Amino acid sequence: MTEMGVSLCRGLQESDDIPRSRADNPTIGEVIAARFGRRDLMKGALAATAVATLWGPLGLVGGRKAEAAPATFRFEEVAAGVDETHHVAPGYRAQVLLRWGDPVVPGAPEFDAYHQSAEKQAKQFGYNCDFVGFFPLDGSNEHGLLAVNHEYTNEELMFPGMVRQDTKEQAFARMTRELVDIEMAAHGCTVVEVRRGPQGWEVVRDSRYNRRITAETPMRISGPAAGHRRMRTSYDPEGRMVRGTLNNCAGGKTPWGTFLTAEENFHGYFWGKLSPDHPEKANYERYGVPENWYAWGKFHDRFDVEKEPNEANRFGWIVEFDPYDPESVPVKRTALGRMKHENASPIVSRDGRVAIYMGDDQRFEYIYRFVTARPWNPKDRAANRDLLDEGTLSVARFNPDGTLDWLPLVFGEGPLTPENGFRSQADVVIEARRAADLLGATRMDRPEEVEPNPKTGRIYATLTNNTRRKPEEVDAANPRPNNAFGHIIEMIPPEGDHTADRYRWEILVRCGDPRLGEVGATFNPATSEHGWFGMPDNVAFDSHGRLWIATDGNSGKATGRSDGLWAMETEGPARGTSRLFFRCPAGAELCGPEFTPDDRALFLAIQHPGDDGEEWPAFGRPSTFDDPSTRWPDFEPGVPPRPSVMVVEREDRGPIAV
Ligand code: FEO
Ligand code: CA
Ligand code: CA
Repeated sequence: MTEMGVSLCRGLQESDDIPRSRADNPTIGEVIAARFGRRDLMKGALAATAVATLWGPLGLVGGRKAEAAPATFRFEEVAAGVDETHHVAPGYRAQVLLRWGDPVVPGAPEFDAYHQSAEKQAKQFGYNCDFVGFFPLDGSNEHGLLAVNHEYTNEELMFPGMVRQDTKEQAFARMTRELVDIEMAAHGCTVVEVRRGPQGWEVVRDSRYNRRITAETPMRISGPAAGHRRMRTSYDPEGRMVRGTLNNCAGGKTPWGTFLTAEENFHGYFWGKLSPDHPEKANYERYGVPENWYAWGKFHDRFDVEKEPNEANRFGWIVEFDPYDPESVPVKRTALGRMKHENASPIVSRDGRVAIYMGDDQRFEYIYRFVTARPWNPKDRAANRDLLDEGTLSVARFNPDGTLDWLPLVFGEGPLTPENGFRSQADVVIEARRAADLLGATRMDRPEEVEPNPKTGRIYATLTNNTRRKPEEVDAANPRPNNAFGHIIEMIPPEGDHTADRYRWEILVRCGDPRLGEVGATFNPATSEHGWFGMPDNVAFDSHGRLWIATDGNSGKATGRSDGLWAMETEGPARGTSRLFFRCPAGAELCGPEFTPDDRALFLAIQHPGDDGEEWPAFGRPSTFDDPSTRWPDFEPGVPPRPSVMVVEREDRGPIAV
């Protein structure tokens, strides 16, 4: 759970630290040469000048001028630190909107952690909220649907008397079928109708839109892998329907108003041990299946890799569903590849085709792009229903000269042939990682979100950290060995063409404490002692196209500060300046920053509050249901911490940070 004093989500336990991508890809360390050497010297404002020289006048992207953003973020910075609660910039109000266990669908019971059941949980808000998408109703900024996903569960914080079960000592001894079923019901997604009333934002109880999706909800499989032999199970002999979605991390919103949710660390849910003759042995080993993080396979055969050998091929996908239609069947879009998907962030390219950027979140994994075969149809929503089933999946190779090549993962092209075990595009998408290995993609420092700025068309990729990178493995795009604090890369398509084969790229900032020379952080010197951060993760843009960064992994031990939301300048001399806007309660990571279109409300997901008590020296012991490091947000005796969605507004209801 912890590595080098860095608190990480359940998705990254020790065993997951083992790099699984081929180590013999062309690391470009040996050809870093002059460009990298020079860049190494660049700091802060100096870097901005040099970037302007490299890319042309700032603000000109793809030949068109970016719309003028306010000169800088206007708010008074929060002091960095750790305590039991959240903190937001002065003059702002942060309201808890939706907590784990709050009733969602009509007839849902009120939360009672001491009398929980799977049936109740399946009607209530799930655990560990991550991505948040605001879908307006009637074009309103104050009335819409919130679609939220639920990444994973913490048994030690959810159940009375419980401690962590995935240890050698416990070996899941206390996990019963009943508790496992509660965990499964706490995964998946939630849709709720929300509106701004006179007293603030509220969830509309009993709305017809309100919905829960869990690890048992039937969903369709579409795209190249649908119906393939490797997707068939005893439940689904056709290979076209699957129960549930797992470990949903970030996601995205399509231009046609559907929700994309990213299945990340699916390997952790699979149980058992691969036999030497398991038909998917090499494939599963490349993804770390089975990882035995949960006891689900003890009670549900489909999570046991020997009893249901293909089930793990049915996870690790991008799932699409229509939040406006509570009856809609979610669809696993296999054309977008199978990996530990962090996110799926679409942007419409010049010709109307849609590019979707994605990170595969594990050490030494890759950054991907999917481009639809056809343009989207803005006039006919239904015409876009299966747009994500056809297109080209590519993987990024970052060249040391500042260019980036998108390498297509297409069956029959290059090494993706039967000689290498690929017999169809289904094989390519099921084993997307191995296909990317063969193409020589650049092994990155844990790609989290890869998100385009809708105003400028530049794409920002957070590389959260990678302490396993050795000095001989550094390359231009991953320039630090033992990268404990991560960095952010900016990618620039030519002329705003998100279908182009070649982009340019630049490192926006190397994270960590800039006061420590050995860390090598490159925040703009205008950044205050509160403004720097480590472990960038989720990304959001406000309506001005300004960049906001959420983090996962800061803590008292790691950086002397909680995770939070930082505002990061990307333009002009201020480029690389960062300021702290919101800070999480102890143990939580910040997820899902999402602005309403008018920037007057900002939704934040506070995930796993009270996790990892040892990371906060003032607490210094395992944090559990009975002895949690914080009881945020209720602070009532006996009530455990509850992952929650908050909404932040300016006290005078003006747009945020303007
Ligand atoms: Fe679930 Fe990559 O964060
Ligand atoms: Ca994340
Ligand atoms: Ca993360």
